[in-house]
Amino acid sequence: MDIEAIRSSYSRWAPIYDRTFGAATSIGRRRAVDYINRRGGTVLEVGVGTGLSLEHYAPEMQVTGIDFSEEMLEKAVAKVKRLGLGQVRELRQMDARALDFPDDHFDTVAAMHVLSVVPEPEKVMAEIARVCKPGGKVVITNHFARERGGLALLERVLAPLANTIGWHSDFRIETVLQENTLTLEERRTLPPLGMMTMLVLGAGPDQAAGQAVAGQAADGNPA
Ligand SMILES: C[S@@+](CC[C@H](N)C(=O)[O-])C[C@H]1O[C@@H](n2cnc3c(N)ncnc32)[C@H](O)[C@@H]1O
Repeated sequence: MDIEAIRSSYSRWAPIYDRTFGAATSIGRRRAVDYINRRGGTVLEVGVGTGLSLEHYAPEMQVTGIDFSEEMLEKAVAKVKRLGLGQVRELRQMDARALDFPDDHFDTVAAMHVLSVVPEPEKVMAEIARVCKPGGKVVITNHFARERGGLALLERVLAPLANTIGWHSDFRIETVLQENTLTLEERRTLPPLGMMTMLVLGAGPDQAAGQAVAGQAADGNPA
């Protein structure tokens, strides 16, 4: 998708997102935030959207969210105000391909249902790796293309409609795993129906140092 298609697609999605795709993907979002809460510290949510995850962060977390779509972000800002979410430090309009944050800045970087949407996902992965502290974690939830079966066929049929539906139905996991400063540590298939996957990637050379941000061990259990 190009960036203009994202702007127009997500201005259409914003009013209905929470009741549709957002509701259907709530389990993955909860699992990801539960994992991040156990780590503590600072978190950047790339493509925070309407902010469906924000109320689930623990009060002591320090959450920053960015999104390209003004309309999606407006919904997130309204939620933070309505629910009084003090853990949300900042919500900003930004392109994930050029994050306006210093290197090695966040304990955790999350990207939920975003990487199959953004243009140039490899560039976004490089930016995510850059702003994540050495020893930090990158937490991803997404749908990844299947190799075979009826759903794989459906994904390929829908692929040319990316600009209309708002994401790439045939997005390959290899695109996420190619970032060579990140190492795959966990891979969980998520309910319902195993359509979504949660990944935890370790950042930087000194990954052992990131196992206990805020004195808590990272969760290594399979779902
Ligand atoms: C499917 S929504 C996911 C929103 C949220 N993470 C969630 O789990 O509900 C994808 C989001 O990615 C955002 N997005 C797409 N391309 C982007 C970019 N280049 N930079 C920042 N956000 C982008 C869209 O605006 C949209 O809000």
